[in-house]
Amino acid sequence: MATVLIGLGSNLGNRKQNISLALKEIGLIRGTAIRKVSGFYATSPLGGPKGQPDFLNAAAVLSYSGTPAGLLKALKVIEKKLGRKKTVRWGPRIIDIDILLSENKIVHSRQLTVPHKLMHKRLFVLKPLAEIAPDAMHPVLKTSVKDMLKNIMPEIFKNVRDVKKFVHKARAAGKSVALVPTMGALHEGHLSLIRQAKKENDIAIVSVFVNPLQFGPKEDFKKYPRDTQRDVELCANAGADAVFAPVPKEIYANDFQTIVSQKRLPEHLCGLSRPGHFTGVMTVCCKLFNIVEPDTAYFGRKDFQQTVVIKKMVEDLNMNLKIKVLPTVREKDGLAMSSRNAYLSVQERRDALCLYAALTKAKQMLKSGERSSAKIIAEMKKIITKTPSAEIDYITVVAPETLENTDVIRGRTVAAMAVRIGKIRLIDNCILKS
Ligand code: PAJ
Repeated sequence: MATVLIGLGSNLGNRKQNISLALKEIGLIRGTAIRKVSGFYATSPLGGPKGQPDFLNAAAVLSYSGTPAGLLKALKVIEKKLGRKKTVRWGPRIIDIDILLSENKIVHSRQLTVPHKLMHKRLFVLKPLAEIAPDAMHPVLKTSVKDMLKNIMPEIFKNVRDVKKFVHKARAAGKSVALVPTMGALHEGHLSLIRQAKKENDIAIVSVFVNPLQFGPKEDFKKYPRDTQRDVELCANAGADAVFAPVPKEIYANDFQTIVSQKRLPEHLCGLSRPGHFTGVMTVCCKLFNIVEPDTAYFGRKDFQQTVVIKKMVEDLNMNLKIKVLPTVREKDGLAMSSRNAYLSVQERRDALCLYAALTKAKQMLKSGERSSAKIIAEMKKIITKTPSAEIDYITVVAPETLENTDVIRGRTVAAMAVRIGKIRLIDNCILKS
């Protein structure tokens, strides 16, 4: 009898019931006995189509008298019986059952790889597994389940001194360092930056800090969503090595007096309705750059003005790092991902689609030969004003370096907008290339 470790996941229908039913069926496979079952863990989906529901994951220890290939066949029959349909890679599923480890067996066939290829990189696999089989060894990595779990959890730093020490050690070892500045409440948009940062650098550090300096007195600083535990878990799955999550005092001591300001760029777009916002953003980013001293910092194009302001600050102040800007990640229906989407009611979430619809219209008009910004903006406004809960803050077409309005679209320009849906202010933009 071999001891086999399996992982189970579900994110469609009654997830708990799906996993329980699968376990019941697994117990009926000839030559199989279930020895241990872990608790159930809810996790955000990794990759795959946007906007799919959260997964519920569990793991089990089995005794099995056949071969891994035989077990795989039986598990596939169960998946089908429970109603699993073939979908895209990492798509939503009623049930997913994976063979993770089978003692020290190593299998590489077209159908099956044991140990499971990604098990050491997936928190949702290792967490339930560590609960029931902490000492099981990965025969290739020669690492126990509990150590694999320890390895993928990012280091968490609460103060400046500790994160500096971590970076200096990495640098001394000749490693490249990336920083992804965030305010937490992480979603696929943030995760795309973290994955890319890790792909292009040895060390990826994510800062999670809701920066009081960039919020206006009537803005949502107090109620901004905060869940560090969830953020750390998402960072683990995305491959981050460290999370820097300081308390406000660590960044702004009582006698803090120095700020970074910029003359012209903040006088456009969001800067007009959020006075002081970009000073807050630049000041905190300057501090984060000084603390972490990254080779590269990663930003999302979703906050277009922010990327322009930060790049200018880096250029003007001779800061020693590269700024990389990555595309906007959207929900399946086009809404740009944002931590603030969580505030939207069901109706507002529907209404919020008018931003994407307006940007799509702008692109279509450009494609059919329209070059007048005024005409494009007028059509975009029509789409927004048709939506009852929407109120326009601004809609404009600007030059990407100066952020000044352009009358005629020539070369690369940017259509940018801020629209209030109910009380929630959302921003979005797209590049228009003539
Ligand atoms: P936050 O809103 O948490 O965003 C952190 C980073 O994620 C920013 O670079 C932002 O542009 C990027 N991002 C957000 N939504 C995205 C999406 N849908 N697709 C791609 N990237 C996306 O921006 C801030 O925090 C703060 O101003 C900060 C820079 C951290 C300074 O406090």
